[in-house]
Amino acid sequence: MLVTIFFLITFALGVAGFYAWQYIRPSIPFVEETSKDRIQAIKRLSIGGHEVASALTELIEKDGAGEWPPRSDHDNWPQALRPYKDIYLELIPLLSAAPPSLDDAVNTVRREKYRALMRKLLTERINIAVVEAIMSSVEAGNLSVLPRDAINGFYCCVAVCRHAYRWATIPVVKVAQLETVIDFPPELDAPWPYLQRYFGVTAESGNNTANVVHNFDPNGNRVYKINVGMSELIRSSEETFFRMFYDLEVLALPIYCSMVQAVASYDSNDKLSTIKHLEAVSTHLRELLLVFYENVHERRISQSVWLSYIQGFQGWGVGRMIDGEFVKYDGLSGNHVLLFQAIDAFLGLDRYLTDEAMDRYIPYNQRELCLSFKKHSLRNKMKEGDRADARIEEELGKIVKQMRVFRAAHRTRVMPYLEQPAPERLPMTAGKSVLKGDTLNEALKLLDDMMATRLRETV
Ligand code: HEM
Repeated sequence: MLVTIFFLITFALGVAGFYAWQYIRPSIPFVEETSKDRIQAIKRLSIGGHEVASALTELIEKDGAGEWPPRSDHDNWPQALRPYKDIYLELIPLLSAAPPSLDDAVNTVRREKYRALMRKLLTERINIAVVEAIMSSVEAGNLSVLPRDAINGFYCCVAVCRHAYRWATIPVVKVAQLETVIDFPPELDAPWPYLQRYFGVTAESGNNTANVVHNFDPNGNRVYKINVGMSELIRSSEETFFRMFYDLEVLALPIYCSMVQAVASYDSNDKLSTIKHLEAVSTHLRELLLVFYENVHERRISQSVWLSYIQGFQGWGVGRMIDGEFVKYDGLSGNHVLLFQAIDAFLGLDRYLTDEAMDRYIPYNQRELCLSFKKHSLRNKMKEGDRADARIEEELGKIVKQMRVFRAAHRTRVMPYLEQPAPERLPMTAGKSVLKGDTLNEALKLLDDMMATRLRETV
């Protein structure tokens, strides 16, 4: 009898000790206080050869200039590049008009005037040969001319100059929507292919990374605004709307890191750590989604001004002939946001965007990170009957649930913004350009179907 009790106590202590060790062993840290600590922890994993950690490290070091969200320097550029910023800022008060004219002829005159002025200033102040020399030096790897954070700032500047030239008046008007090809000033074309290659995207238009996430200086100030001379309602709605996308990436960093840690701990058979990192993903995701829930409503972003004054600038809808075929590019959409793509990939879901859209609008290192999350998705590794795996599945399920709640909320919250009257234009979203469908209702139904389908796929 005594022997049995002794055996049972020893066995129980052994089991308890094993689980306690799983919690305290120093393999992968659970709590990382600062972004810097988190980035360092991921770097250590990448040095250890972990593929997903390497993808995240590459993204942060190259595209982020060592930080995430990416650090963007909008001031310390070679003299030859500075006029781009000056010209955007000098001309921006002329871009928006209130109320927009419904007369095509008036709008055409306005647009021609804006474009002529931009062309004139660019010709007078930019030396294309010097710009190209700087860009090819950067391409050859000489980052002392234009360090990574300055490349990010410059990318943003050229992208927003191109969007300003493309529309040439805000709100977006029908005559502008009906254009198919635009002859850009050579100064706006010259640096673009270098920037496209540096970031690994092919679109003539900008994207969420260039136009929005890079549009904040290291002090958190938004640099290139759109509606500078307009009402307080328009300006504050614009600021709130675009700041959300930067704030999302601030709150996304701990999620990217915890997802990498979850994969790495699972690979080293440390399933209790995996569970803890998944819990951290859930906690941080809840906090991140609050950015959407707390901002996308009438009191923070006015429905009456969003469609006409805020969304339009980020659209595109023009293209050019490539190898005998007309290629049209779209503008920005929430579907460019890295966080949602990364979580979908981590959960093993198929992509929302097509391969073509990924190559056009999503920077190469962001695509690589998502591919790596997908390849290492824990959901493909779960073993039936394994109790720890069952707990892991449960945690993954909680993340899926949060994504479903977000997608359901997004679907209903965004509709009133898209339903607003905008008689100056044809129905359009920035990300899908002029919409298909004979009536506004038909066009919106197509968008709603896309969102409903994505919601159904989120399982
Ligand atoms: C008034 C604000 C917004 C409107 C009107 C809007 C509208 C839309 C529409 C129509 C789509 C489907 C078509 C497409 O893929 O482009 C879409 C997709 C998407 N939007 Fe938004 N959106 C808004 C704000 C946001 C914000 C703030 C976020 C990020 C928190 C976001 C994230 C997404 C994502 C991730 C998708 C891709 C579909 C998915 O993954 O579920 N949107 N949005």
